[in-house]
Amino acid sequence: MIITLDGPAGAGKSTVSRQLARKLGYVYLDTGSLYRALAYKALKTVTPLDDEAAVALLCSRTEVALKNTEGALRVFLDNKDVTELIRTEEVSFAASKISAYGAVRKFLLDLQRQAGAGGGLVAEGRDMGSVVFPHADYKFYLDAAVEERTTRRYKELLAKGLDAEYQSLQDDMVARDRQDRQRRHSPLKVPDEAIIIDSTNMSVEQVTKKILNYLP
Ligand code: DC
Repeated sequence: MIITLDGPAGAGKSTVSRQLARKLGYVYLDTGSLYRALAYKALKTVTPLDDEAAVALLCSRTEVALKNTEGALRVFLDNKDVTELIRTEEVSFAASKISAYGAVRKFLLDLQRQAGAGGGLVAEGRDMGSVVFPHADYKFYLDAAVEERTTRRYKELLAKGLDAEYQSLQDDMVARDRQDRQRRHSPLKVPDEAIIIDSTNMSVEQVTKKILNYLP
């Protein structure tokens, strides 16, 4: 089976998808990490993010790969493990920016579909149910109030010992969601036939359980 989870930043997609995949013995596909890896390279190489042609050229010189090792997903950029390096706010925003380009989406599409070729997949992102896996067996759209999504991100950063400022985090999140929803290619939206879950007042366990209840 292919199960898709789409939704805005901080809705809990990653944690829930990881838990679901573990419980089902499926492969977990975090598609945001692919856009993040490319964005990380764009920042490192000082590629202008608003220059679509320059970002397209960068794609042709880049190799991104995902490896499921010992139950964890690692992201490789040109054969270097960048799993932790791509988790910054700067990379989040850059990923949102370059993911609007048709060339970038095309570059990463096959990679995502290949991951689904063997079946048994939990895929999360923004266009999983609408574009990448339109024939998925089960589609979910995970949402939560922006204040709750910001609080989750805020706590996550503090737990990592990083600096965080609530209001600027919320502003960034709102801006990123707007960018992801309003782009021409594969915008964030509720896919046809998707089941919508509002996780505002729910724990990860509750959301996972709710999803499992829909499955055969
Ligand atoms: O899920 P995330 O926060 O790691 O994703 C980072 C950015 O990547 C997100 O703001 C938009 C982009 N993205 C996308 O356009 N399509 C996806 N399927 C996944 C992520």
